[in-house]
Amino acid sequence: MRDLNVAIVGATGAVGTELISLLKERSFPVKSLKLLASSRSAGKQMDTPMGTLTVEEATPDSFKDVDIAFFSAGGSVSKELAPSAVKSGALVIDNTSAFRLDPDVPLVVPEANAEAARNHRGLIANPNCSTIVMVVAIKPIYDRAGIRRIVVSTYQAVSGIGTKGLIALEEESRRYLSGQQVEPAVFPYTSAAVHHQIAFNLVPHIDVFDEMGYTKEEWKMVKETKKILGDPDIAVTATTVRVPVFRCHSESINIETRTKLTASEAREILSRAKGVTVIDDPSAGAYPMPTLGTGKDDVLVGRIREDNSIEKGLNLWVVGDQIRKGAALNAIQIAEYVVAEDLL
Ligand SMILES: NC(=O)c1ccc[n+]([C@@H]2O[C@H](COP(=O)([O-])OP(=O)(O)OC[C@H]3O[C@@H](n4cnc5c(N)ncnc54)[C@H](OP(=O)(O)O)[C@@H]3O)[C@@H](O)[C@H]2O)c1
Repeated sequence: MRDLNVAIVGATGAVGTELISLLKERSFPVKSLKLLASSRSAGKQMDTPMGTLTVEEATPDSFKDVDIAFFSAGGSVSKELAPSAVKSGALVIDNTSAFRLDPDVPLVVPEANAEAARNHRGLIANPNCSTIVMVVAIKPIYDRAGIRRIVVSTYQAVSGIGTKGLIALEEESRRYLSGQQVEPAVFPYTSAAVHHQIAFNLVPHIDVFDEMGYTKEEWKMVKETKKILGDPDIAVTATTVRVPVFRCHSESINIETRTKLTASEAREILSRAKGVTVIDDPSAGAYPMPTLGTGKDDVLVGRIREDNSIEKGLNLWVVGDQIRKGAALNAIQIAEYVVAEDLL
């Protein structure tokens, strides 16, 4: 396998820095690494496992000779620059929502639908972080028993909006605990008309609301799950909530299967599933939590119970590191698949 010229757009961000360390950690075949960000960070030196590198401003001309470009700088940057990268001959793996629902763009979670990457036309989309965490956990159940309906509620970490979310939680907490006035300016998102404190609070508002009262984040979980599973009939409803946790999204997932699955059967299937670690011994205080999921590749699944309110129901509690498996790791696993299958 030849070594590749790799570019990361958004290299200075939460996902970008995770991508840089994962390239080394997973021995991805890197010949050269180009760090791209906005003009604000151009010229900045970054210590990387590949040595100290200088950040360059991302422009349409940044992609000459680049084999794989990971994009994690927001949807508008992807819309503006990804077509130039593709035109230059790079394969783009995009972490933003820009192209996820485009019928010509594969939307891939390698544990669920790696094969979809075969149809790429220069661009592969990484799903939303909450969707990835959920799909890794439910796919083994889907394959065994079918799924008619999913009801999911999320508990999403502040780093889901990047570095600024981490800083906001830290600063608000410090001010709150020292008796100072908290001045929220970041959540639910920076351009929102009204901001709410996230420290010691929960905010049931991630991304913008539509006329039905659902948020865009909730619709992402619905639409992306259907696309990844290739099942337009699966019923999904979501409530997404921001919580004062630095890292790792948690999800309460209620599933109605097509054929009956007992809790012990589900536990058995999940304990053999790729990308899943079962932690499910409640009497010993063992269940997934963000502190356990942080830095882990696997999605953690526990509290596996039958839902006795319906005939074929299961409840799961799922935790996943949304910067790692929910973004950077999933993108690198897609790249690894593409390289291994000679799809570049
Ligand atoms: N955080 C997560 O858990 C997560 C999970 C899944 C997907 N994502 C997606 O990944 C993307 C990045 O998220 P993040 O959390 O890493 O955000 P972040 O920490 O705020 O980082 C944003 C990155 O984008 C760069 N950037 C901003 N404007 C740019 C421009 N005009 N041109 C080039 N680069 C620009 C920033 O560079 P500067 O240093 O120059 O500002 C920075 O490197 C978003 O689309 C997000 O939705 C995030």
